[in-house]
Amino acid sequence: MFCFAVEMFGLLFFVLMAHTAYGDVSYSFPEEMKRGSVIGNIAKDLGLDVNRLSSRKARIDTEGNRKRYCDINLNTGELTVAERIDREGLCGKKASCVINQELVLESPLELHRFILNIEDINDNSPQFTESVIEFEIRESAVKGSRYLLDEAHDADIGMNSVQSYTLQNNEHFLLNVLTRSNGRKYGELVLNKELDREQQKEVTLILTAVDGGTPPRSGTVAIHVTVLDANDNAPVFSQAVYKVSLPENSPLDTVVVTVSATDADEGQNGEVTYAFSHLSEMTRQLFFLDAISGEIKLKGLMDYEEESSIELPIQAKDGQGLASHCTVIIDIIDVNDNAPIIVINSLNSPVPENAFPGTEVGIINVQDRDSENNGQVRCSIQQNVPFKLVPSIKNYYSLVTTGELDRELLSDYNLTITATDEGSPPLSSTKNLHLTVADVNDNPPVFQEHNYRAHVQENNKPGSSICSVSATDPDWRQNGTVVYSLLSSDVNGAPVSSFLSINGDTGVIHAVRSFDYEQLKSFKVLVLARDNGSPPLSSNVSVSVFISDENDNSPQILYPSPEGNSFMTEMVPKAAQAGSLVSKVIAVDADSGQNAWLSYHIIKATDPGLFTIGVHSGEIRTQRDISESDSMKQNLIVSVRDNGQPSLSATCALYLLISDNLAEVPELKDMSHDESSSKLTFYLIIALVSVSTFFLTFIIIILAVRFCRRRKPRLLFDGAVAIPSAYLPPNYAEVEGAGTLRSTYNYDAYLTTGSRTSDFKFVRSYNEGTLTADLTLKKTQSAVDDLEGLDAEMNDSFQVGLTKDFYYYLVFISVLN
Ligand SMILES: *[C@@H]1O[C@H](CO)[C@@H](O)[C@H](O)[C@H]1NC(C)=O
Ligand SMILES: *[C@@H]1O[C@H](CO)[C@@H](O)[C@H](O)[C@H]1NC(C)=O
Ligand SMILES: *[C@@H]1O[C@H](CO)[C@@H](O)[C@H](O)[C@H]1NC(C)=O
Repeated sequence: MFCFAVEMFGLLFFVLMAHTAYGDVSYSFPEEMKRGSVIGNIAKDLGLDVNRLSSRKARIDTEGNRKRYCDINLNTGELTVAERIDREGLCGKKASCVINQELVLESPLELHRFILNIEDINDNSPQFTESVIEFEIRESAVKGSRYLLDEAHDADIGMNSVQSYTLQNNEHFLLNVLTRSNGRKYGELVLNKELDREQQKEVTLILTAVDGGTPPRSGTVAIHVTVLDANDNAPVFSQAVYKVSLPENSPLDTVVVTVSATDADEGQNGEVTYAFSHLSEMTRQLFFLDAISGEIKLKGLMDYEEESSIELPIQAKDGQGLASHCTVIIDIIDVNDNAPIIVINSLNSPVPENAFPGTEVGIINVQDRDSENNGQVRCSIQQNVPFKLVPSIKNYYSLVTTGELDRELLSDYNLTITATDEGSPPLSSTKNLHLTVADVNDNPPVFQEHNYRAHVQENNKPGSSICSVSATDPDWRQNGTVVYSLLSSDVNGAPVSSFLSINGDTGVIHAVRSFDYEQLKSFKVLVLARDNGSPPLSSNVSVSVFISDENDNSPQILYPSPEGNSFMTEMVPKAAQAGSLVSKVIAVDADSGQNAWLSYHIIKATDPGLFTIGVHSGEIRTQRDISESDSMKQNLIVSVRDNGQPSLSATCALYLLISDNLAEVPELKDMSHDESSSKLTFYLIIALVSVSTFFLTFIIIILAVRFCRRRKPRLLFDGAVAIPSAYLPPNYAEVEGAGTLRSTYNYDAYLTTGSRTSDFKFVRSYNEGTLTADLTLKKTQSAVDDLEGLDAEMNDSFQVGLTKDFYYYLVFISVLN
């Protein structure tokens, strides 16, 4: 307005000046008027006579070769537009556009200057130099950033020039219109809201420049803003958490999941690469992440039992390093890949066989690393054993007995425990358990027979074995070790030990003495078998000993008296007829059976044909009638033989007198007596002398031997106790009243050989070397007791020993005889 006013003022002033200074006139008129348009009446203004204008040849003179802009109408004196007047072409940006013209008149020559003042009209639109204004603005540009816009040009001036700018409505930019010092207006774009390339890559705006004319004119230009990328976007994952389920032990190269992140930025800013962030080394071994595609593959086997769920933190990064994260959660699905494990926590083996049913013998733990049904384990044991599994607290089982155990039937069990899980397919495993049953002394020794019968020939050798008993005890070791002994009892008033002894270990029964059938035909003893358990169990059996007869007794002739009594004569009546009984030989035999079955024979007769003897009756009968010619004195030698093998016999002489009158035979008395009796006396003397001598010698030898042995104390081994054997008689080993031989070592030799020489040899080989090594053995209380008991027994035994020696001696003598 102000400028406009100034210009208007200036123009007025100029017009005024023209009038005043030169008396000239000026005309103001807008440019671009049509040709012929009247500008003004110059004739009138100059006070010229219109009618004379033509005559005065009035004309507009252009100075130099200037264009003539106006003409004068000679008839009216009006100035008209001669040609198009473009103010802008004439004056450009000048504030006033004045054309000086002259009106020339002749006759008289008159020159009038006049001024054409061309007024601007709004005939030009504002115009921008370029059709498009290009901007490249980085999206990171901050609010308030300014961008200078090209000015619009308007050829018009003043109010008709550019007066204002308007910007197309938009959300990002405002227009700030500024005025230069020269009054020209220009604009700048102000960023009102940050750009986002990712939302809008380019912005196109129309800038309109408007001039102040009436009507106003405007010009437009397009502003093309290219939004440049800034790395303002981090990659964005399609999901913050990726959840996948995968069975464990999935094959290698299985694709777990593909993560995907997008980055709205472009170029490098939008290039996304993937990587694991913070991963344990172990997990890293399992997975492979394709940095470009985001594909996660398995490169190891996942184990549910290690980890039931794996979290993979994943980072996506763009080229400039902006990163974001997501998590892949892999729920591992359990697969039944672990067989149950059976652990024997404790096992009480051996189990005593008397354990009550229900006794716990072991604790078993079953583990399965799988979960749910795959880890549910059922545990079982085979059927045919007296054991069962009782579920206890979680996963624990007690192994208990279900019945009586009997070591003697089955001493060990191989238990197979099977554990099966409930997966599909189920897995199972087995464990073998070896359980032994410990012995308890629950079985007494049992004899193989209910009773034993032993047959012994009389006159047996002392020490000879007559039979053996045997008992078995199925128990273990000492619980089943059988020791035999004789139960003490009396046989015919004498202790049984004086008849028999038994080897405690072997059960072989020995005769201690020589039996005489004629004194004792049979007897019965009880043998005890006892095991070494504690407490010991025992049983007994009867042993009947039958002594069998041996033909050791010659027939004994009772009649006629074997003494050869001279008066023992039989009278045979002369008139005796054939077959009449004359006499009878009576004989007995102490033996029995065949050995006592006697037969009678006449082995010598005065008249062999006269008498016969009944072979079994011993009756002597006449064979024929006695005749006168027969000798009065008849002698018969009768032999009585038993039926033994070999048979023994005795003979006797029978004196028969065939007479009816005893007085007829005076010299019968001293029949053949002297000779035999004197012979007998002689034998007796020799026998007595030799017996005495031998006896003396024998006693001396025995004493000497005994003395020597006394000086060498020896040790006998009895169980765990070392006993100096000096307490024992050298060759007699009965140390218990019942006749039990206490040690195999010491007595076997003696009792089994039965020979006298070996009797004396027996012990030596066993003691010295071997037994001293055991001297350090512990002496238990019971051992002490044993020793004390032994002392007493020793005295007895010693005496028995002596008598026994003597007995042998007697036997010896009888053999000699
Ligand atoms: C148990 O097994 C062992 C060897 O494994 C075998 O010697 C023994 O005889 C078996 N016992 C039973 C009662 O089967
Ligand atoms: C014998 O049996 C007893 C129980 O009666 C037992 O304690 C002992 O261990 C058994 N001995 C052996 C060698 O088995
Ligand atoms: C011998 O055994 C019987 C049963 O067989 C028993 O009654 C008796 O007491 C036993 N005798 C001795 C002395 O042990």
